[in-house]
Amino acid sequence: MTTFRIAPSILSADFARLGEEVRNVVAAGADIIHFDVMDNHYVPNLTIGPLVCHAIRPHVQVPIDVHLMVKPVDRIIPDFAKAGANIITFHPEASEHIDRTLQLIRDSGCKAGLVFNPGTPMHYLDYVMDKIDMILIMSVNPGFGGQSFIAEALKKITIARRMIDESGRDILLEVDGGIKVDNIRAAAEAGADTFVAGSAIFSQPDYKEVIDAMRAELAK
Ligand code: DX5
Ligand code: ZN
Repeated sequence: MTTFRIAPSILSADFARLGEEVRNVVAAGADIIHFDVMDNHYVPNLTIGPLVCHAIRPHVQVPIDVHLMVKPVDRIIPDFAKAGANIITFHPEASEHIDRTLQLIRDSGCKAGLVFNPGTPMHYLDYVMDKIDMILIMSVNPGFGGQSFIAEALKKITIARRMIDESGRDILLEVDGGIKVDNIRAAAEAGADTFVAGSAIFSQPDYKEVIDAMRAELAK
């Protein structure tokens, strides 16, 4: 039986009350905190970095999943590891040496993953599956919360699921972008086990109600 994980993206949280927000969303049932790092270079937006990761770390016990949308990638990795990140993912187009970056993440004591934009081919995985702990399929183009789910991503989730099963390894398959109560089931049926949701959760007054509704869909 698949273990499903809900990973709220704090991109849509109230940054003025971030400690309280992460505590509340974990109390509401979040399994992972998804932490979106944007650099206004690789993506056209600027968000949060290791200082903020360090600041929220004492507020939650669950893993912090750092999604790096930055270029270059390598020099920021040790800082996030020191700031308490547990999982670090990056976009292969943003790294000059994918294998080296994956190794750097693991050597820093974190789990490592690759992120695939809607238009990014999956072949980047071909020779590095043994160094991967998570595959993240983007179901929007990266840079902003609150965008609509791109259904084509379901095909890529299916491909990633097949690759994971063939590898025989324990690799999380995460989907990120436009996930709501009404499409989370489709993503799970395609093979995802970890679901990022930002605006769907943080736009509502009752986080537990949304997370419970998502879990009810996954249990169907
Ligand atoms: C987009 C980010 C996502 C985003 C998800 O670049 O990687 O994590 O915050 O937000 P929603 O769930 O609102 O699409
Ligand atoms: Zn993300």
